[in-house]
Amino acid sequence: MPHNAPAAARGVRLGGGAERGGSVEERGAALTSLDTGLRFRMQRAQNQMRAQHRHILPFFEEIEAALLRRNSEPIRGSLDRLAEALEAHFNLEDDVLFPALHGLRPESESEIGALSHDHAALLSDLEGLFESLERDGLEAFEQGLREFRSALRSHEAREEQLVGEMIGPGA
Ligand SMILES: [Fe+2]
Ligand SMILES: [Fe+2]
Repeated sequence: MPHNAPAAARGVRLGGGAERGGSVEERGAALTSLDTGLRFRMQRAQNQMRAQHRHILPFFEEIEAALLRRNSEPIRGSLDRLAEALEAHFNLEDDVLFPALHGLRPESESEIGALSHDHAALLSDLEGLFESLERDGLEAFEQGLREFRSALRSHEAREEQLVGEMIGPGA
């Protein structure tokens, strides 16, 4: 390039040469677009997480309606569907959402780890609910269900707060 080439032409180099990786401005722009892409994916994951939290609610409503009728038979089917939906939801969070959150804010590792640990505990509590339904009768099951629902709700609130702190309140 001639020494009298315009400054803008000298500054624009895409790869190769002594300035491999681009100018400081180019690298900054690349990071900004990476950040925007990550943020966009995180907002989608945030919306999906909230939609799944809402999707879980009807299973509880089904079980509560069956409890009002003192009919344990449909409760097993609803518990099965709840377990399946929760397992899929927890897997999505453990495999996709939490690693992305950790990438965004590594200092939140202990809170993310605690949330992930909750998943195993909640699934074990749910297993206990199946056993309680068979063994203890509807009254004890109902009490266990209330406690489970409250633990799940508080877990979801902590997740939504953590994600909101990292990427904003979302849609
Ligand atoms: Fe979760
Ligand atoms: Fe969740």
